Amino acid sequence: MGDARPIGLFDSGVGGLTVLREVVRRLPDESTIYLGDNARAPYGTRSDDEVRRFSAECLDELVRRDVKAIVVACNTSTSVALPQLRRRYDVPIVGVVRPGATAAALATRTRRVGVIATPATIRSHAYFQAIKDENPFVEVYEHATPDFVPLVEAGRLHGADVDEAVRRGLAPLLGERTADGEWIFPLPADARIDTLLLGCTHYPLIVDSIRGATGEGVAVIDSALATASVLAELLAINELRAPAGSTPSHLQLTTGDVERFRATATLLFGSEFTAVEAVIVPEAA
Ligand code: DGL
Repeated sequence: MGDARPIGLFDSGVGGLTVLREVVRRLPDESTIYLGDNARAPYGTRSDDEVRRFSAECLDELVRRDVKAIVVACNTSTSVALPQLRRRYDVPIVGVVRPGATAAALATRTRRVGVIATPATIRSHAYFQAIKDENPFVEVYEHATPDFVPLVEAGRLHGADVDEAVRRGLAPLLGERTADGEWIFPLPADARIDTLLLGCTHYPLIVDSIRGATGEGVAVIDSALATASVLAELLAINELRAPAGSTPSHLQLTTGDVERFRATATLLFGSEFTAVEAVIVPEAA
């Protein structure tokens, strides 16, 4: 027994491959179809209506390909469109916000969590709400870091310019050093975070710079790992696991340019995700 149909994963672009990578590690027998809406990325600076419409069009494509479950591997889409997507399809859908929020709420010892994400995700307060649902006594400090996605998209994952952009982006949460070496902290000493939640698919790819900026005392939480665990549980509960010993296949679809997707995926992930095909969604502008 078992269900050999693929799992569908959706993201605005290549960033969701960080989630696919964890899913493949956690569930090595499962086949996957990944859809990146590169033609219309980034989503993080779009209106909520656009994010909802684009997300539904992409999930329509995955459902047409008979996936048995879907992971919305985009934080912006999860934050803005998840309830509407769950109403639209019978297929079980996992988002990335709740798994990450739960992991962060359980990781903090001081009950102070920082969340960094795209402007649309922060505007939705989805992480704030999900962390409060898990533990209402956790203080949540949300902060949009719009400069990080373009860096990763450009393949800039390491180096002094990345460290500097990350340091600047995190300063409102973590504080910064003046030219005289003095620290300026935006939050009072009794309100400093001990946990930082990466609320965007791209941020795990610059985690070294982020860890460099936070230092030792701050736990850095990535939704991808927690989401793969939730997916594993969902498949088990619904008896949707692939038969043991299945030979999995992995297909990546992009609404954008196939060669460009493959080149970026190779740059970011090596040769793991290179079975790329084009897919057309309505009005891919
Ligand atoms: N995938 C998006 C997210 O996780 C980041 C990239 C974008 O803005 O489209 O929010």
